[in-house]
Amino acid sequence: MLKRIIASAALVCVTLLPLPAAPKEKTLYQKLGGKKAITAVVDEFVARVAADARINSFFKATASDPMRLASFKKKLVDQICEASGGPCKYMGKDMKSAHMGMGVSGSDFGALVEDLVGALDKFKVGEAEKNALLGALGPMKKDIVEK
Ligand code: HEM
Repeated sequence: MLKRIIASAALVCVTLLPLPAAPKEKTLYQKLGGKKAITAVVDEFVARVAADARINSFFKATASDPMRLASFKKKLVDQICEASGGPCKYMGKDMKSAHMGMGVSGSDFGALVEDLVGALDKFKVGEAEKNALLGALGPMKKDIVEK
């Protein structure tokens, strides 16, 4: 009987013990290096797009207006920050409305992704993080490509 009481008491104690907090997995946002690193990648990415003869005609008006360019970059940073689990809120248009009527093709989309990969590689973003980010942006293709 005493043994049983001790066993039950032990069980109650073990059950009430606070569990050690499980180590939290880092978000993609943290793995990318936070907002500062994302901003550096976006700056490099937009510079590559502006120099990319395959697609820079789409961005002529944007590149020639500093206010518009700054607003576009901020939206990209917020979008990537939010999509990767960071503390930002993307306040721009949804991808379908933002690209409606532009006539973006599958190869235009591929060129832009290449420019993004170039920017991520320049900052030595790891393969896993790069693929996770591309995986988060990939599903947007159906809303952006029109032909
Ligand atoms: C995953 C791929 C893409 C993402 C995440 C993306 C994201 C965005 C975002 C956040 C905006 C701003 C929307 C707003 O003003 O509220 C935007 C605008 C725009 N996007 Fe994209 N985009 C993508 C692909 C493309 C492609 C492939 C092209 C053309 C080759 C393109 C051309 C443009 C242009 C010209 C604008 C207008 C910029 C301005 O407001 O001056 N985008 N995009």
